[in-house]
Amino acid sequence: MTILVTGGAGFIGGNFVLDWLAGQNETIINLDALTYAGNLDTLHAAQTDSRHTFIHGNIGDRVLVERLLTEHQPRAVINFAAESHVDRSIHGPGDFIQTNIAGTFNMLESVRGYWNGLDAKYRTAFRLLHVSTDEVYGTLSPEDPPFTETNRYEPNSPYSASKAASDHLVRAWHHTYGLPVLTTNCSNNYGPYHFPEKLIPLVILNALASKPLPIYGDGQQVRDWLYVKDHCSAIRRVLEAGKLGETYNIGGWNEKTNLDVVKTICAILDELKPRADGASYAAQITFVQDRPGHDRRYAIDAGKLKRELDWKPTETFDSGIRKTVQWYLDNPQWVDNITSGHYRDWIRQQYG
Ligand code: NAD
Ligand code: DAU
Repeated sequence: MTILVTGGAGFIGGNFVLDWLAGQNETIINLDALTYAGNLDTLHAAQTDSRHTFIHGNIGDRVLVERLLTEHQPRAVINFAAESHVDRSIHGPGDFIQTNIAGTFNMLESVRGYWNGLDAKYRTAFRLLHVSTDEVYGTLSPEDPPFTETNRYEPNSPYSASKAASDHLVRAWHHTYGLPVLTTNCSNNYGPYHFPEKLIPLVILNALASKPLPIYGDGQQVRDWLYVKDHCSAIRRVLEAGKLGETYNIGGWNEKTNLDVVKTICAILDELKPRADGASYAAQITFVQDRPGHDRRYAIDAGKLKRELDWKPTETFDSGIRKTVQWYLDNPQWVDNITSGHYRDWIRQQYG
């Protein structure tokens, strides 16, 4: 048995591949375009595992994807590949339209052709799982209930609009062509191998480098945080038992303001690696210009996943964030490799 994973050199896809190889005896074909966010160092432990095959390529390349499907006959495809950073989508939305919309469309067509050609038994068992985000639902005010699967799609950024479009395509390929799909909409992930353009790893690394900790606007925006390995376990559960054509919200029941998240990281660093001058890392907090169109609050009701598939996260925010800070302290080589080159250009462009 084989599965095909796309975007498996990124943050969540990379964690998914590593966890899969640790827990399942099933081979993985890992297709990734190695954009700035893709990193083979993340897959170091998988590179010598004969159950893992890495393919450098684009989900929009139909010839390649069709060849991979025909050659490896996967029982499932899990689509992580995407442009994923909201701030980059504001500076340059084109890549988001290309990968998240056109790329998903091309991949759906490749998968549809493959699935149509399967024998009845394999056609019935086949699954395409599309990994998406809570950002498709737009923003909440403080008194609103958390997002459920029936909330309207109201995306506000180029990133979330492109993900919403991809979700609609996946849905349509199920309703029109019968393609056996599952979609997951998850909240903010954090954990090992997180690219340091995103809030949590950026703050950890800036703190250690004696740089400002940039907080957009008033820092009172709220996100729900989920430890990445809990996201991976939820995806495995949905793949195993999810109902065809359904969407599942995944969340950590951990609503926090950005300012609270940053202060928590500072407090953990104060304990694990105190500043030489004895001051708290919180002294480095700096309020900077807000993100245009910044969504105020996301919150996820993951009750359907609990009720129907008996899934719940294992990490609290306190346990997960401590593990995460420790991971960055323990893995300076991974950090050094990823923060060279183009990463520096991005930081200059975004923060001046
Ligand atoms: P990431 O940016 O870290 O990784 C994306 C990966 O996809 C990279 O390895 C990149 O090289 C690859 N990729 C990009 N374009 C590609 C293409 N055209 N063909 C093949 N590979 C391509 O992203 P992530 O944070 O790991 O997110 C993975 C998925 O999960 C995305 O679909 C994202 O929308 C979704 N998601 C992310 C979060 C989060 O908090 N990070 C939360 C919910 C959902
Ligand atoms: O909600 C799920 C989404 O979470 C995923 O779909 C996206 O792929 C993922 O990038 C993430 O999006 P966010 O925009 O919420 O994540 P980010 O880490 O960029 O920002 C988290 C919050 O912190 C957000 O309110 C913006 C704020 N922020 C971010 C950065 C980079 C700051 O205040 N300062 C910063 O420097």
